[in-house]
Amino acid sequence: MSFPVHRPRRLRRTEALRGLVRETRLTAAGLIYPLFVCPGENVRLEVSSMPGVFQQSVDRIVEECCEVAALGIPGVLLFGLPDAKDARGSSSLLAEGVVQRAVEAIRKAKLPLLVITDVCLCEYTDHGHCGVIENGDVANDPTVEILAKQALSHARAGADIVAPSDMMDGRVAAIRNILDEHKFADVSILSYAAKYCSGFYGPFREAAQSSPQFGDRRSYQMDPGNAREALKEVALDLEEGADMVMVKPALPYLDVIRRVRDACNVPVAAYNVSGEYAMVKAAAGNGWLDEKRVVLEILTGIQRAGADIIISYHAKDASRWLAP
Ligand code: PBG
Repeated sequence: MSFPVHRPRRLRRTEALRGLVRETRLTAAGLIYPLFVCPGENVRLEVSSMPGVFQQSVDRIVEECCEVAALGIPGVLLFGLPDAKDARGSSSLLAEGVVQRAVEAIRKAKLPLLVITDVCLCEYTDHGHCGVIENGDVANDPTVEILAKQALSHARAGADIVAPSDMMDGRVAAIRNILDEHKFADVSILSYAAKYCSGFYGPFREAAQSSPQFGDRRSYQMDPGNAREALKEVALDLEEGADMVMVKPALPYLDVIRRVRDACNVPVAAYNVSGEYAMVKAAAGNGWLDEKRVVLEILTGIQRAGADIIISYHAKDASRWLAP
């Protein structure tokens, strides 16, 4: 009896109808653009595996932020490539560190942009791990102490949101404590709550010069087979005071994004990571895929899976394509 009375194609006839009944409406308002800050002046070096993405000195970062704000993107996520690295990632704590100076400069430019900082040690340690090494492994509690200090120095520089990406246990509580102690109760925490140990971070490690020099990150980042465990990580981070939670990467973990979205009532972010970007760029560069079409389809898919916020290297292009 359903056919011929029911004809779903009726609502697909024209663009006006399709637009009217569309369930997922992608806009620039939910996008965040990642940026890589390096030392020096007037530096802008393209990352070879990520066409269109650059390592830039603070002055050029501010220029790019003007462009990002003009496109209607609400925020940037900053990663630092420091002058010097050591075993404890000390350069991540300096008031005049790369990220701290970039935050201050963006603030000074008075742009309508949220400044989010990645809180981690891998870019600052000479061994490339996300924490300090003791007895051949990353030591959790000593690392958490350093991460909290790093988050505080980002807040002092003017960050709106700090985003710990290290996957140490207890870091959200430590960061919340130190921020509150120093009267930064308004600075929010976006925790990389469910961050998987992924091959899709490859190009990022070139961009951020943060490859581990021995071993891998399997003792702290999550195993790709686990989804229930993501809910546990999210619940713990919320208990510790996270304001928003993230699932990362996005595309191989759309089911996890959906489960996290259904299980909690805070904003959920998804990170459309470097390897996901590089695959699209490589295929589009070869003429194998229509870049605009697949990027908008990918971002729509991530939003449809349940992400309220999408961090993506495609954010600038997508905002241009979405502009009326
Ligand atoms: C680590 C960090 C990583 C990314 C963001 N923060 C890499 C890693 O864990 O090795 C990856 C982002 C991307 O691939 O785009 N602090």
